Amino acid sequence: MAGLMQVIYHSAARGEVHDADLARLLAKAREHNARLGVTGILLYSEGTFFQVLEGEADVLDGLMSVIAKDPRHTDIVTIIREPVARRSFADWTMGYAPLAPDDVGSIVGMSDFFGSNASFARLGSGRAKKLLAAFREGRWRSRIAGKVEPPPARVPAAAPPDFTFAFQPIIDAEAGAIVSYEALIRGARNEPAAQVLQRVGPAERHGFDEGCRSAAVDLAARLGLPCDLNLNFLPLSVETSQTSIASTLDTAQRCGIAPSRIVLEILESEIINDHDGFARAVNEHRGAGLRTAIDDFGAGYAGLNLLAEFLPDMIKLDMSLIRDVERKGPRQAIIRGVRQTCQDLGIDIIAEGVETPAEYAWLRGEGITLFQGRLFAHPAFEQLPPASFPSR
Ligand SMILES: Cc1cc2nc3c(=O)[nH]c(=O)nc-3n(C[C@H](O)[C@H](O)[C@H](O)COP(=O)(O)O)c2cc1C
Repeated sequence: MAGLMQVIYHSAARGEVHDADLARLLAKAREHNARLGVTGILLYSEGTFFQVLEGEADVLDGLMSVIAKDPRHTDIVTIIREPVARRSFADWTMGYAPLAPDDVGSIVGMSDFFGSNASFARLGSGRAKKLLAAFREGRWRSRIAGKVEPPPARVPAAAPPDFTFAFQPIIDAEAGAIVSYEALIRGARNEPAAQVLQRVGPAERHGFDEGCRSAAVDLAARLGLPCDLNLNFLPLSVETSQTSIASTLDTAQRCGIAPSRIVLEILESEIINDHDGFARAVNEHRGAGLRTAIDDFGAGYAGLNLLAEFLPDMIKLDMSLIRDVERKGPRQAIIRGVRQTCQDLGIDIIAEGVETPAEYAWLRGEGITLFQGRLFAHPAFEQLPPASFPSR
């Protein structure tokens, strides 16, 4: 994770942009980027540039300050500047994708970039891909700024007390498959989480938190985890801003679980308590290839503007928004707004705490596909339970 960063921004072209201008710009950029070890892609549509750049942090910052002064565009809006574990565009010093064949004429490049069997499909499921898809669909004509900070120093983990885990599946209703299991802390005799956490003093919290995550990875692996794994930060452990993940990663490696299969859930209320600590945590994890989720989104009264500063890979809609949603107008309006925003930002939504077929039907009707709740499966003590997939 030595300093590889990804920057995504959009900007407004100054004046008309012709094929020949773009061809010149790209030729120079490719030659320059090849020397700098920078990769990425440039999109242009209707007066807006949208660019993904990847490279070593200091090199990228230098290049961005050159690009920012380029008189051919203005109003540069950074969507993301964050550490990444690997490049999405390793083959391209600067790919180019006209959004439609006639959009900017016949420039040589990847006019079929978004086509069914083209390069776009190879991008995996990362955020860059989702943002590119959002741009293609005509988003990003308005402005949202992102802000991130460098990762913190690591601290060693402490020995955890007596506990174990229950697991509850997260399902993809469209695919009819379990995509992940969330590890939920329990006492050794299946005591509820609150009872276990009560025994952990404030000074032990951080070490306990890290010990928990490693133990959850270890148990899930022993149970034959076939999919992703969602792990939680304990309340108040993000706030300490000592968010070491070293032992979680070590355990994952030992158990043969790739970092990209691990999703770290952070409570919305924790983020509100400690913006900077959360930003550091998110970046440290992202740099190691882990994904992040905001847990209980909608319960902490932070609202959507939280996403103007922190972009997780996914959010979990709090069950207070889900409960009886088919009968509650305001909840419906909020969920529709959150969904649109998340789509623009390349963030997946999980509806958690779904209990009734009516809640499920309404959410499915709104296009939500990822679910967790008793309707599908209860948490199972030291087991990876199957899920039932209701018909709509
Ligand atoms: C939208 C946009 C994207 C650009 N992307 C790159 C790029 O990826 N790499 C690059 O070297 N220059 C890029 N440029 C051009 C730089 O701003 C600058 O003109 C160029 O690096 C200067 O090169 P020179 O000093 O060799 O003439 C871009 C310009 C614009 C308007």
